[in-house]
Amino acid sequence: MKDADEARGSTGVDEAPPAAPERRETDRKSQAVRRAIRSELESDASDRAAERDVSPAQLKPVIELSHVNLAFDVPILEDVSFTAHEGETIAVVGESGTGKSTCLKLILRLLVPDKGTVCIDEEDITELSFEDALKVRQKMGMVFQGAALFDSMTVFENVAYPLREHTDMSEDEIEERVREKLQFVDLDADRVMEQMPAELSGGMKKRVGIARGMANNPEIMLYDEPTSGLDPLTTGTITRLIKKLQKELTVTSIVVTHDMRAVARMATKVALLHDRHIVFFGATEDMFASEDPYIREFLGG
Ligand SMILES: Nc1ncnc2c1ncn2[C@@H]1O[C@H](COP(=O)(O)OP(=O)(O)OP(=O)(O)O)[C@@H](O)[C@H]1O
Ligand SMILES: [Mg+2]
Repeated sequence: MKDADEARGSTGVDEAPPAAPERRETDRKSQAVRRAIRSELESDASDRAAERDVSPAQLKPVIELSHVNLAFDVPILEDVSFTAHEGETIAVVGESGTGKSTCLKLILRLLVPDKGTVCIDEEDITELSFEDALKVRQKMGMVFQGAALFDSMTVFENVAYPLREHTDMSEDEIEERVREKLQFVDLDADRVMEQMPAELSGGMKKRVGIARGMANNPEIMLYDEPTSGLDPLTTGTITRLIKKLQKELTVTSIVVTHDMRAVARMATKVALLHDRHIVFFGATEDMFASEDPYIREFLGG
């Protein structure tokens, strides 16, 4: 990845006055973040190369937004298009208020676009009846911002919730499934099942949120800022967990996030929203290597 600051310094053009201490501290931090992103990109390069070897033409499109327009009081999304093929992870990034969570709501059919289509498994869901939309939604697991567990329910009941809502599994089958999912997210089922969310750490809550999202064995996982509010180590653990889910269960995922390190670690492609439009949609490495002024600014120089 080209370093814009280094490039400027080496030419001697644009020589800036000596930086204030706070500025130096910010530069030092952003250089550390850039180094971390570079190392994430390099460590997963072979995985991504293997994924790219399967040409998209061979993979079926699972989630497809085409020319979507949506306005509330003012236009929010205009001509927004992107596709997630089977097994891909698309990171949707952009400044606050650009419509990232809105994209997830369109995919869940909690919102319907004013123009354009949203297809799930090549079926346009914008015209479906309420009941048919519910069926499509059962293909999806959602991990809400801040985990959003039901505070008055135990961990067991939280993870069992989608199974009780959408399946006719027996109590024994439900318990077996809840245990399996808690184990998948590296939680000790015997220890946590009867605990209340208030007794859990932030990282544990996110794990339970992921276990609940995947309880139904969905083919699609949607995450809204799954690592927000976590320390860097726990963020690493959660992103590794999401990667494990992608790899072992071959789900197609959309991850809304502000965490560029998590993007470098998890996403096969990135959709960058700016000013109502998708201004970049392509391979993760290509976004980090882009010389486009807005992308450079968004990535912090
Ligand atoms: N139901 C609604 N009614 C009216 N305006 C809404 C509604 N939902 C979202 N908006 C507006 O749409 C815009 C996009 O919201 P959205 O929540 O999708 O942004 P976001 O990119 O997820 O932001 P953040 O990063 O802060 O979570 C915002 O300006 C928001 O105020
Ligand atoms: Mg949001």
